[in-house]
Amino acid sequence: MKVLVVGNGGREHALAWKLLQSNTVETVFCVPGNGGTAILENCQNLSLTATDFYGIKEAVQTHEIGLVVIGPEVPLAMGMADYLQQEKIPVFGPSQSGAQLEASKSWAKAFMKDVGIPTARSQAFTDEEIAQAVAYVEEQGAPIVVKADGLAAGKGVTVAATVEEAKAAISESFGGKFGLSGECIVIEEYLVGQEASVLAITDGLTVRPLLPAQDHKAVGEGDTGPNTGGMGVYAPAPLVTLEMMERVQREVLEPAIASLRDRNIDYRGVLYAGLMISPEGDIKVLEFNCRFGDPETQAILPLLETPLDEILLACVNQTLAELPPLRWKNGASACVVMAAGGYPGDYKTGDVITGLDQAEAIGAVTFHAGTELQNGQVLTKGGRVLGVTATGTDFDDAFAKAYQGVEQIHFDGSYYRRDIGHRVRSPIA
Ligand code: AMP
Ligand code: GLY
Repeated sequence: MKVLVVGNGGREHALAWKLLQSNTVETVFCVPGNGGTAILENCQNLSLTATDFYGIKEAVQTHEIGLVVIGPEVPLAMGMADYLQQEKIPVFGPSQSGAQLEASKSWAKAFMKDVGIPTARSQAFTDEEIAQAVAYVEEQGAPIVVKADGLAAGKGVTVAATVEEAKAAISESFGGKFGLSGECIVIEEYLVGQEASVLAITDGLTVRPLLPAQDHKAVGEGDTGPNTGGMGVYAPAPLVTLEMMERVQREVLEPAIASLRDRNIDYRGVLYAGLMISPEGDIKVLEFNCRFGDPETQAILPLLETPLDEILLACVNQTLAELPPLRWKNGASACVVMAAGGYPGDYKTGDVITGLDQAEAIGAVTFHAGTELQNGQVLTKGGRVLGVTATGTDFDDAFAKAYQGVEQIHFDGSYYRRDIGHRVRSPIA
């Protein structure tokens, strides 16, 4: 089978890499892909954009592609899965109505309240209700969280330490900082605890979790400084015990899928629950995403033994209940992100990356996030550049290998955190 993966990040590189390990996958096409997918054997980048519905349909027909996997949320929220399905193309990714779980926080919160899924107390306001929003913040007090309703590339959330900060966030959102995405906001109770990601695959009838993961969002060591798209991640996250996974299955995933079905929403893809786990062990859903997590996918997939195409096709064909239990490698997986200096602020691009082969030779797998291939050289092309990943017998082993990989790789101004996984491993001497 030939598979087409939509997207250009580390997640899509990891999906292509895993798909190509399957005996039944011959070629993967990436739209548009990156430097990593350009040099991956049996993988080919197509120079189309990730939102070019028609171009993707044509590519599927030209190359006789048997499955399309949609990586990012934007094409899903635009209805790419619906469009391809109408063209009778097998597609992994929820319909536009299902993608609302991620694309509209007010919709997702109303859904959770309706279904009884544990989540933070909240209220939604439109830009005509600014006085009510301000009054709500004054009544609730700080800390409090203000969220733009729509997609904002991970930048729409303000965790406000003071009422003043929350009011400023309200004004900015209604003032157009996030465009249409910020015309409605959700104001939410501040939750204390540790975050974890549970990604689950579903065919709309059955839902099965993947291994839980934990990422480091802050740019600085000690989890300090501004938030990023993720500076590193590991799986399986020991924070999420087996007992908690059973609760997530029972209290979050199964009721969510049952309710989507009741609403006649076609949901065949990943349901990603971003969880806050309180010090007492209470679980609340911070957000739902309608796709594989980035960088969680880069840490989870190297542990997966079941061929990925079998899993994705079982979702597409609604035969997930018949698929044998997913098989996982024992041990642990660690991914350390190498970023361009300055990220998440301004950064440079176009720098030559060296040492990728040496990192591979010591057993690390490097998933490219922001890179491109030009004249045979891999160049930086984004803030998060690479996710250097390794599996091992335990977290100490996996992180030692991932960091050895990082040490082989060079580009001008590269930056990485040296303390990724500090909660689960011994300090590196
Ligand atoms: P979201 O996009 O809703 O997941 O929010 C982005 C990030 O903001 C989360 O990963 C958390 O770090 C933080 N955050 C969101 N909601 C809350 C909350 N209710 N309490 C504390 N932190 C939050
Ligand atoms: N790792 C966060 C996300 O994929 O949204």
